[in-house]
Amino acid sequence: MLSLRFLPSTNFQFHTPKTPKPPRFPTPKPLAVRSVLQWNRKPELAGETPRVVVITSGKGGVGKTTTTANIGLSLARLGFSVVAIDADVGLRNLDLLLGLENRVNYTVVEVLNGDCRLDQALVRDKRWSNFELLCISKPRSKLPIGFGGKALIWLVDALKSRQEGCPDFVIIDCPAGIDAGFITAITPANEAVLVTTPDITSLRDADRVTGLLECDGIRDIKMIVNRVRTDMIKGEDMMSVLDVQEMLGLALLGVIPEDSEVIRSTNRGYPLVLNKPPTLAGLAFEQAAWRLVEQDSMKAVMVEEEPKKKGFFSFFGG
Ligand SMILES: Nc1ncnc2c1ncn2[C@@H]1O[C@H](COP(=O)(O)OP(=O)(O)OP(=O)(O)O)[C@@H](O)[C@H]1O
Ligand SMILES: [Mg+2]
Repeated sequence: MLSLRFLPSTNFQFHTPKTPKPPRFPTPKPLAVRSVLQWNRKPELAGETPRVVVITSGKGGVGKTTTTANIGLSLARLGFSVVAIDADVGLRNLDLLLGLENRVNYTVVEVLNGDCRLDQALVRDKRWSNFELLCISKPRSKLPIGFGGKALIWLVDALKSRQEGCPDFVIIDCPAGIDAGFITAITPANEAVLVTTPDITSLRDADRVTGLLECDGIRDIKMIVNRVRTDMIKGEDMMSVLDVQEMLGLALLGVIPEDSEVIRSTNRGYPLVLNKPPTLAGLAFEQAAWRLVEQDSMKAVMVEEEPKKKGFFSFFGG
């Protein structure tokens, strides 16, 4: 039977305890590994700052906001300054996932109207002060006429010239679909992370979005395959990551397993990557953040036979 291993191209060493054998998948409890922050080096920031990255998908509900929150906080934990922009106008929920909903007093719309300063609209995270959230508008509100990509370009320029200094990353949580909200969200970006699930509807939308991103001049597009279930892939009930990669022809930033902890953390407003001990999905998001910093990617490889030694890290190719 076919089985799947994901082999990261980076060759980092996990900090493994000197205790006996590592626990077997899927029992995360006895793990001594706390996060990829314990790897033996810090990632090196590639490219010019600010790196303006749009998290997009086409299809709704595939995990864009989850990815923005978890990658954003992972980057902050790695020591980079991050501004996350919730560009999902009307249906914003990044503030909820981050547990910051009560702290959003002003939005970009008020900044543009001259009702407040930009720094008043930036909400600092409770846990990581180098992570800030910026919402475009109030929930269920409509965008003012004339608000578009140029407004976001102005915003990124304003962030660059702040007294505190230019952020390392500006991450934009894009709305679903390919209409005006999508066009606005992608305009200031120079790289994109395309989130997809391994199903045909999500892939079709992802392919369409890839074409639109390329038309807009965004050439650096990497994908995250979310909600992957190895048991279903083995049973040939789910497309493999390799199939997804072949269909979309994009570099792979990360593979995130289906994990009930994602839903629990969403409801608690406590991003998964902060969980102790870490869950499989949390570690996968941290690894994806690491690759994003270094503009690196990973490989998905099909192997013909089940590997004999199947430890917890086999999911990551470790
Ligand atoms: N790896 C995962 N395992 C389990 N549940 C997940 C996973 N990723 C996302 N989810 C769940 O899927 C749902 C949708 O996620 P999310 O809101 O991040 O998607 P989205 O693409 O931002 O949606 P929208 O298009 O509406 O903005 C949430 O309930 C989230 O908890
Ligand atoms: Mg969303």
